[in-house]
Amino acid sequence: MGTFSDRKSGFRRCLPQDSINRYKSMRPSKRCIVSVAFLAVAMLMVVTEGSGQQFTFIPNKVPFLNPGGASETYSTNGGGIDLTGPFFQSMGTNGRSCATCHQPSDAMSVSAAHIEERFFLTRGKDPIFRTVDGSNCNHSIDVSTEEGRFAAYSLLRKRGLIRIAIAVPANADYRVVNVSNQYGCNESEIISMYRRPLPSTNLRFLSAVMFDGRESSPATGTTKILYSNYPTALLSDLAHQSVDATTGHAQGDGTRPTPAEQQQIVNFEMGLFTAQSFGWSTGSLESRGATGGPMPLVTQPFFIGVNSSVNFLLPLLEQPGGLVSPGDDVAGINDDVAAGGLVAGGISSLQGTCGTCHDTPNVGNHSFPTPLNIGTGDPSETAPSASLGGLDLSYLPRITVCKNDSSGLPTSNCKTTTDLGQALIDGKFDHVGKIKGPILRGLSARAPYFHNGSAQTLLDAIRFYEKRFGLVLTPHEESDLVAFLSSL
Ligand code: HEC
Ligand code: HEC
Repeated sequence: MGTFSDRKSGFRRCLPQDSINRYKSMRPSKRCIVSVAFLAVAMLMVVTEGSGQQFTFIPNKVPFLNPGGASETYSTNGGGIDLTGPFFQSMGTNGRSCATCHQPSDAMSVSAAHIEERFFLTRGKDPIFRTVDGSNCNHSIDVSTEEGRFAAYSLLRKRGLIRIAIAVPANADYRVVNVSNQYGCNESEIISMYRRPLPSTNLRFLSAVMFDGRESSPATGTTKILYSNYPTALLSDLAHQSVDATTGHAQGDGTRPTPAEQQQIVNFEMGLFTAQSFGWSTGSLESRGATGGPMPLVTQPFFIGVNSSVNFLLPLLEQPGGLVSPGDDVAGINDDVAAGGLVAGGISSLQGTCGTCHDTPNVGNHSFPTPLNIGTGDPSETAPSASLGGLDLSYLPRITVCKNDSSGLPTSNCKTTTDLGQALIDGKFDHVGKIKGPILRGLSARAPYFHNGSAQTLLDAIRFYEKRFGLVLTPHEESDLVAFLSSL
C-alpha cells in the first residue's frame, strides 16, 4: 500500500503543515467550511430530487456524507448509477433487491447505523428485515410485533450482520462437535455464521468472491481466480454470485436474474469505483495533486498477484504440472497467522507491514487468493475491552470442530471459532477461520469492520492489530492510522 502515501497532500489540504497528529482537535479552516457547504448543497439536491418524483439516477461523483467526511462512486457506464437496473429490482419473493444490502450511500455496503435508522423509520419492516437471513435465527422468533422484531434483528441493527448458513461438506476432514448459538440456530450440519455485506464496488480488483471465497471455488461450481484466467473467471464467478444472492437473500425461485440480467449486474458492478473523496478535517482528497477519490481507481493497473512477493512466479506456478493448481494454496503465504506473524508452512515468522497482506496497490485487498486466519473470530482473543485490543465476540456463536483420524473419528485436535471460514467450503480443518482480506476503500461509509462486525470503529480494528501482532503504536500513530484509513 506504499502508493497511498502520495495522498499526504490530500490529508493536509485543510491543515497547517505539521498538524496531522492534532487533526482531531482542530477546527476546520474556512476553505473546509466552504467545501462542506458545497457538499451539503449537493446532498440537498439529491434528497429533493428524490422526494418529488421517482428518483432513478445518481450522477457520477455525488458525495454521500459519512462519519469520516464523504464518499463518492464513479461508474464507467453511462455517467452514473442507473437505479432502474436489475441490481435495484426486486427479483425474488421477499421485496429485497441487491441494493437492500449494497447501497450507493454506504460505499455499496451498508453501515449498521443506517440499518438501525431504517428499523426506526419503518418499524422494522424495511425489506432488509426478513427472517430468511436478517434475523439472528430463522426459527423460534416472533416478528409479529415491533418489540419482537427489535429483538429478532438485534445483530443486524447493532452490527450490520446477515446470517450466512452453510452446510458442512460431506468430505470434511473434521467433525463439528459443538455449536453453541445463543439465538437458537444450533444445527451442526448447517452452520449459522454472521457476516457483514462486502462492498459490491471496486470489484475489478477481486482475487476471490465472498469472505470465504466460496463463489470462486468448486464448492459452488465456480472457478478460482488465477493470473491465467483473470478476468474471465471473475466475471463468471460474479454472474453465478448474482444468482445465488437472489435465491438466497431474496428467496427467489431461480428464474431471475435471467442470463441477460446477470450480464447487466456484472457489467454494472465491474464499472463501479468507490472511495472517500472528502474528509471532515482534511477537505478534498482529490485536489492539489492528491490522488484520493474514485477516479484514479478507474485506471489503476491490476492483475492477480500484482504486488505479491511471489507474483513473478505466477505464470510458471500455474502451468499444468506447475506447483499451484486451481484449489491449491501457495505454500507459505497461506498459513495461519498467530501473534507475531505468519506461522507454519515452513516459514516460522514473517516480518511484515499492513501492506504485506493488504497488497493490491491503492486498493488494499489481497491481490492473490489468500484467505488468512488473523484471529478475528477467535474467542480466546477476546479481551474485556476494546481499548485493550480485544474484540467483543460475545454476541457470536461458538463452533467447535475436531480433526478426524484416518477412520473418520474425531481426535482431540480441536478448534473453537465464531466462523469456520474457508474450512466450510473445502472441508479442510487447517482452513478453519480463514477469511479474505477485503478492499480497504470507502471504509468510513461502512462501519463496523471485520467479517463479523467486531470492530465498531477503525480504532478498534487498529487496537486489535496492536494486540494480536504485538505492534506498539503511540496515540499519535494510532490517530494518524485512523485518519489514513478513514480517508481511503
Ligand atoms: C440481505 C443482504 C444482501 C443482499 C440482498 C445481497 N447481498 Fe451481496 N452480500 C451480502 C453479504 C452478507 C455478503 C458477504 C457474505 C459472505 O462473504 O459470506 C455479500 C457479498 C457480496 C459480494 C461479494 C463481494 C466480495 O468482495 O467478495 C457481491 C459481489 C455481492 N454481494 C453482490 C450482490 C448482488 C449482485 C446481489 C443481488 C443479486 C446481492 N449481493 C444481494 C449481503 C447481501
Ligand atoms: C497477516 C495479514 C494481514 C495483515 C498484516 C494486516 N491485515 Fe488487515 N485484514 C486481513 C484480513 C485477513 C482481514 C479480514 C479479517 C476479517 O474480516 O475478519 C483484514 C481486515 C482489515 C480491516 C477491515 C476491513 C473491513 O472491510 O472490515 C481493516 C480496516 C484492516 N484489515 C486494516 C489493517 C491495518 C491498518 C493493518 C496494519 C496495522 C493490517 N490490516 C494488517 C489481513 C491482514
